[in-house]
Amino acid sequence: MAGKSRTYATSEITVIWKPDICIHSENCAHGLPKVFDPNRRPWVDLNEAEAGEIRQTIDNCPSGALSYGKAEAKPADTNAPEVEINVRQNGPLIVRGEFKLTDAQGKAIETSDTAALCRCGASNKKPFCDGAHKSMDFEG
Ligand code: SF4
Ligand code: FES
Repeated sequence: MAGKSRTYATSEITVIWKPDICIHSENCAHGLPKVFDPNRRPWVDLNEAEAGEIRQTIDNCPSGALSYGKAEAKPADTNAPEVEINVRQNGPLIVRGEFKLTDAQGKAIETSDTAALCRCGASNKKPFCDGAHKSMDFEG
């Protein structure tokens, strides 16, 4: 999925947000409301918290819509599985790791190292979740 992205940066951290794959879970806004405020423009203000706190909050972004510079990435956990798939209650499948996503014809679909895949069938961005499961009150 070719997508647009926005970059926010300070001397401490660079943050990238990909609106096309944001599933509006608001983990970011709940985790660090001074930094991530959907009602403000720009909605990301990196001066409002320490870079470490921002990284921790971004680690909780379920879709991979938020990411930070690779130089700041966590050290690799050699015991971690290569791919982890988490079933979100009443929501998407969150896939993390090194994986390849392909369409029905076997053609590769562009992803980062995290993807939220629609489980409810209502997304307009299939195979990705777009948050529509909330408005249809999906249970599963
Ligand atoms: S998907 Fe990520 S960027 Fe989008 S609202 Fe949730 S935590 Fe924030
Ligand atoms: S699971 Fe989120 S839109 Fe379907």
